[in-house]
Amino acid sequence: MFTYFFSQRRNEKALFDVHSVINCTVLEFALENGIHVNVDNYQELERITAIINDQGQTKSSVGIRLKPVLGVGAVKALSTCTADSKFGVQLTDSSKEEIIGWYLDRPWLTAVHIHIGSQSYDCSDLTCGVKCVVDFALEVNGRLGKKQIHTIDIGGGLPANLEDDTTRPSFQDYAETLKKEVPELFPSYGAFKKVITEFGQAFNAKAGWLVSRVEYTKKASDNLKIVLIHFGADMMMRTCYCPNVQKYQRRVEVFSEEGQLKEGERMRYNIAGPLCFSGDVVKRDVLLPTVEEGDYLILHDCGANSLSLFSRHCSRQAPAVLGRHGLDDLKTSRVSLIHLYYFTWKKNELVL
Ligand SMILES: Cc1ncc(COP(=O)(O)O)c(C=O)c1O
Repeated sequence: MFTYFFSQRRNEKALFDVHSVINCTVLEFALENGIHVNVDNYQELERITAIINDQGQTKSSVGIRLKPVLGVGAVKALSTCTADSKFGVQLTDSSKEEIIGWYLDRPWLTAVHIHIGSQSYDCSDLTCGVKCVVDFALEVNGRLGKKQIHTIDIGGGLPANLEDDTTRPSFQDYAETLKKEVPELFPSYGAFKKVITEFGQAFNAKAGWLVSRVEYTKKASDNLKIVLIHFGADMMMRTCYCPNVQKYQRRVEVFSEEGQLKEGERMRYNIAGPLCFSGDVVKRDVLLPTVEEGDYLILHDCGANSLSLFSRHCSRQAPAVLGRHGLDDLKTSRVSLIHLYYFTWKKNELVL
């Protein structure tokens, strides 16, 4: 239950389906408290139907997570609109009528949801997914002769550029593509009341970086050195466990003990973490200026999918987090599981 994220900003409650296996207790809680729910499969829909029949009504908006089969993007593990993806209900020419029937039978099914994947698609791919569910919603509403589906949840998925400091594609780029291809989504069209978004990576990746003091350096061969630092697969799970996926790689920079960016002749390094297995390497064959004991090593664009994926392998403790609001206000805290509970359950923001 505590793995759910609730947002009560402006008195709005939303259930971000951070995982897709939701039990009856959580469903009852959400439906009693008017929290938006996205349904993953038909069995879950039957449970929700029974709960709402028992409760008499619900203040929640409820939508089906639809999965048009659009193909694999850049990272298969992060693509959710393949035929074999575990997420959502497949929307095809042959399944469409049955799903429309679910809506016709349930007046409280007032939303649709899509999230085609993360880090895998550009604005036009994402827009293509959104168009599928908007067309579906318009068809349901057309058949019913009323605007039963009033909420479109377009998920997240906007990628973050990890190659340099520029933000591309921007939210504006995505909005413009949507406006051109799916104008029905926008308020001026009057088809729907509400659009929900679930951006993760695009919002957060560039807001954080990881830093470690270089503890040791050692020679692997004449043209390769190994740098040992204090984070590895504990913080950068995907990077270390899937070293061949380019989208999981991050930029590295090295600073001297005094905080100066190091420059000069470069040589090849592997940057390795503190865990007890050989794959604990956050960057391989990277060309860097001379790295020395006591330097600081920075991994950029780690504001998303780093601390949130933290692994306790080797009894590692989650690292201290430094946060900055404005120019002067630097706060620090060691993030424990208790803090994460507090963050997700009690407050809108991480109070350090
Ligand atoms: C349902 C859903 N929405 C949103 C997101 C966030 O995706 P992204 O970080 O690519 O924006 C995810 C990521 O796993 C997800 O599963």
